[in-house]
Amino acid sequence: MTNKVTLTRFIIEQQRGLPEASGTFTLLLNNIITACKQIANKVNRGQLIGVLGSAGSENVQGEIQKKLDIITHEIMVNQLNWTGHLAGMASEELDDVITIPANYPKGKYLVLFDPLDGSSNIDVNLAVGTIFSVLRCREGIEPTLDDFLAKGSEQACAGFVLYGPSTMLVLTTGKGVNGFTLDQDIGEFILTHPNMRVPEETSEFAINMSNQRFWEPPVQRYIDECLQGKEGLREKDFNMRWVASFVADVYRILTRGGVFLYPLDNRDPAKPAKLRIMYEANPMAFIIEQAGGLCSTGRERILDIKPTGIHQRVPVVLGSKNEVERIIRYHQDA
Ligand code: AHG
Ligand code: MN
Ligand code: MN
Repeated sequence: MTNKVTLTRFIIEQQRGLPEASGTFTLLLNNIITACKQIANKVNRGQLIGVLGSAGSENVQGEIQKKLDIITHEIMVNQLNWTGHLAGMASEELDDVITIPANYPKGKYLVLFDPLDGSSNIDVNLAVGTIFSVLRCREGIEPTLDDFLAKGSEQACAGFVLYGPSTMLVLTTGKGVNGFTLDQDIGEFILTHPNMRVPEETSEFAINMSNQRFWEPPVQRYIDECLQGKEGLREKDFNMRWVASFVADVYRILTRGGVFLYPLDNRDPAKPAKLRIMYEANPMAFIIEQAGGLCSTGRERILDIKPTGIHQRVPVVLGSKNEVERIIRYHQDA
């Protein structure tokens, strides 16, 4: 590659055709990416800099926080709060929305993020990531909770960075999905996976099978049929993958197809679903739909849901179109 397309060049060229493009968005994205490069560096150095292990605290959702959950949250906040591009932020790791300090100007975007997704994988040296969602906001105001609780279909941009064997950024601004690889030698994300598309057909599913006894009948039916393989109604064998990092499971589906389910379950009535809509399900739904896949709760399109809380949980079925349509059909039948 002698003429590498950097992320900045890609975004500027993509925005050039838009009359409303002011350059602010490019700057904001660069700030998010700087934070993610810093996170990539911490994740990569791991125990050399003593960042692995538990922090001994709980987050708002009652989950034990890892040291890196807190460190990555702070990196995101500190790289974004001074920029003047944001009216506010929200993070998985903080109950309340994050206001912009009074000594900095406020801008016209909101950013919601999961600073370290798949954090149960960090101590066993498996893939983790950062997920972000960008919303437009009335300029210069103190945003209300309602400004944050926009439908996923209103996102201006969504992306994730996967800290795997390569550090990769996957991004959409509503014009398809593009993948970039971090070139460590020059410190830039380079366009390596233009126009990513989710294959429509697949014979691979991702679900945490240990929760099987808690699922609803339509999901039981779908997985049963997959497990019956060639001898069953589907007349083909299925493969199963579960990384337990949403970022890694979604990245696999973007590259070779598949279906991912974190469905409703009746294990704990207080938590009927696991993934959070604002900074996990919505950004991934935007990316998957832009890549030609589908994303649903089984009953409704994720991007059409009007959220009621920053940390609201939602069942997620996403991936190859034909499989997600089948799972939706099974929910309708039931
Ligand atoms: P987080 O680490 O941000 O809390 O997210 C974990 C999520 C997601 O990454 C993954 O798909 C899922 O939880 C894994 O859940 P199980 O532990 O139930 O497999
Ligand atoms: Mn997560
Ligand atoms: Mn997280």
